[in-house]
Amino acid sequence: MNIIKQIDALRENINQAKKQNKTIVFIPTMGFLHQGHLSMAELARRQDETRSKFYIVMSIFVNPLQFGPNEDYDKYPRDLSRDAELAQRAGVDIIFAPTVHEMYPEGTSLTTVSVAEVTEGLCGAGRPGHFQGVTTVVSKLFNIVQPDIAYFGQKDYQQAITIKKMVQDLNFPIEIIVAPTVREQDGLAMSSRNSYLSPEERRQAPVLYRSLQEGAALIKQGETRPEIIREKIVQRIRNESTGQIEYVEIRNADNLATTSIIDSNVVIALAVRLGSTRLIDNIVVEV
Ligand code: PAJ
Repeated sequence: MNIIKQIDALRENINQAKKQNKTIVFIPTMGFLHQGHLSMAELARRQDETRSKFYIVMSIFVNPLQFGPNEDYDKYPRDLSRDAELAQRAGVDIIFAPTVHEMYPEGTSLTTVSVAEVTEGLCGAGRPGHFQGVTTVVSKLFNIVQPDIAYFGQKDYQQAITIKKMVQDLNFPIEIIVAPTVREQDGLAMSSRNSYLSPEERRQAPVLYRSLQEGAALIKQGETRPEIIREKIVQRIRNESTGQIEYVEIRNADNLATTSIIDSNVVIALAVRLGSTRLIDNIVVEV
């Protein structure tokens, strides 16, 4: 498996794969890979019945455009040689790891892509400009890689919905597959940012998923009032951790619309700050 840093070289490499009638599968990441990232390559490999028809491209690029001025762009963990090893084992065919200069030769991009409505509220409220940074870089990556299929994780639920909307609205000929959230044994959703947690914060962190499961169970038992669910979750996080809650929200699972009564599939999504680490998680509840 090779690592390619230049756009032209990647295009050439992918053209060769296309000439061999390969299906181009794309997994965009910011690296510091964990099983959540790798599970998508493994899923793709499993769906690839002939074992050789898929050509799996993974990008590793910490995208400055999607970080706010006071966020963790500088300290975001990076380890390309470790990532390459893990990606190869998971069945990735080629890594695209451009420099910031390769992606933004003029320092930034005068052209941006932004998706309305689904990016409002939830993470969009606390991270202004974040989703525009994501949709802009993903559009660039889609144009560079020109994949047939792209994988995104459910872990970043609002991001996955936003990308699906963008693909639909801008007619990208790409099938988007949303992969289930991969968790640690104690339920904590895997994240490159978990490496920031102190031992005590790491001990507390599983309360996020426990509280989401409790909320989901209440809905399954027939509770239809979002504010009751929300309150239970907030109380549990407050009682069992020192976390600062940024949001806990119950939204329509398909379009993220707010809902005053739970009468269709919903996603319960939350963001909590444990010390200086911002963690997000969500659970989908079918009604
Ligand atoms: P990153 O946080 O590295 O995540 C890359 C992909 O892995 C995303 O689609 C994310 O949802 C998925 N992922 C992360 N943790 C996961 C987990 N525990 N289980 C399943 N999937 C998981 O998301 C980004 O990077 C960036 O915003 C990006 C899309 C690459 C654009 O810069």
